[in-house]
Amino acid sequence: MVGADRDSLLGRLRGKRILICVGAGGVGKTTTSAALALGLAARGQKIAVVTIDPAKRLASALGLQELSGEPRRIEPEVFAAQGVEMKGELWAMMLDAKRTLDEIVTRLAADEHARDEILSNPVYSELSTAVAGSHELSAIAKLYELHEEHDFDAIVLDTPPSRNALDFLNAPARLLGFLEGRALKVFLAPGGLTARLFGRGTGLVFAIFARVTGIDMFGELSRFFRSLAGVIDGFGARTRSVAALLADPATTFLIVTSAEREPAREAVFLAERLTEAKMQRGALIVNRVHTVGLGGHSPTDVQGLLEPELGQALARRVAANLADFDVLFKRDRDTIAGLSLTLSERKPILVPHLDQEIQDLLGLSRIAEELFA
Ligand SMILES: Nc1ncnc2c1ncn2[C@@H]1O[C@H](COP(=O)(O)OP(=O)(O)O)[C@@H](O)[C@H]1O
Ligand SMILES: [Mg+2]
Repeated sequence: MVGADRDSLLGRLRGKRILICVGAGGVGKTTTSAALALGLAARGQKIAVVTIDPAKRLASALGLQELSGEPRRIEPEVFAAQGVEMKGELWAMMLDAKRTLDEIVTRLAADEHARDEILSNPVYSELSTAVAGSHELSAIAKLYELHEEHDFDAIVLDTPPSRNALDFLNAPARLLGFLEGRALKVFLAPGGLTARLFGRGTGLVFAIFARVTGIDMFGELSRFFRSLAGVIDGFGARTRSVAALLADPATTFLIVTSAEREPAREAVFLAERLTEAKMQRGALIVNRVHTVGLGGHSPTDVQGLLEPELGQALARRVAANLADFDVLFKRDRDTIAGLSLTLSERKPILVPHLDQEIQDLLGLSRIAEELFA
């Protein structure tokens, strides 16, 4: 029993307060995050799930018609109406990367004037998209805020569809690198680049540049960095706290993958990076696993077995169909075996490929039952 408990997802998640679902795009991270949160809440906990880009139907099932910037509780009646038992509380929110960054600036800026100066600066919007406003960073910044300011038993975080799932882990380091790096110092230092740029000789060049292009780029830059100087310390400290939170023993990463080759490869890569970064892996979840095939029989045998019941024509069609599934069944079985071996995961959590879209609470609770089976 002890062994079973250790292998079960509930056992593995005991004592964890932050669960982060990572993995390649399209494997089911958003679905898994929501289902995981639902399953934990159904068992009596107070859980928040932070989703990113949920499909429209799923978003409305979670009561997320709009971006609110704060989690909202899904009313108990909503679960009752769908026949889903709910002993705890499920809170959900949808993340808007840009807005979250603005909120951080708002919080950290000394006063309204300083804040407006930053937010309205064209360079800020460039920067917030390019560096600090990356979805990854906003997601963990929000996570930190929820962790600090609320009393959830656990927070489940979905991660963005990134080109590279690892961007997520690198985000704090990237921002810190930027904040503490040379580029910014050069701009901020008294008598630094800004001053020199606006010194006599160069000033003329930029003045001409501004006249020709209509863009007072260096003026904007200089104003921006001067206004940013006031919040920079807060940013750095916060980013460091976020990085610490990611490495906390109560934080765990759930690697989600499908059994297809590319996502599985990414899962392995991600697992290695987690280990390197000394971050914990809570579980390996293989989603959309094909569980039906020919069961070791040949298509002809299967057709023969089905014929008395279904008649020849139908039996042949069903057997052909099962033969198609058998290819996926075997591929999945082999991929899972490979993953288990490479990642020393004795028992990955397997979630079958359901033949329906997962877009309501009932669908999510079906996935949850598989996760916690
Ligand atoms: N186990 C499953 N069975 C069937 N469909 C699934 C399953 N898991 C996810 N899906 C579907 O796959 C699609 C992608 O899932 P999603 O959670 O949005 O992936 P990601 O967030 O990783 O991009 C969605 O349409 C979802 O309904
Ligand atoms: Mg997603």
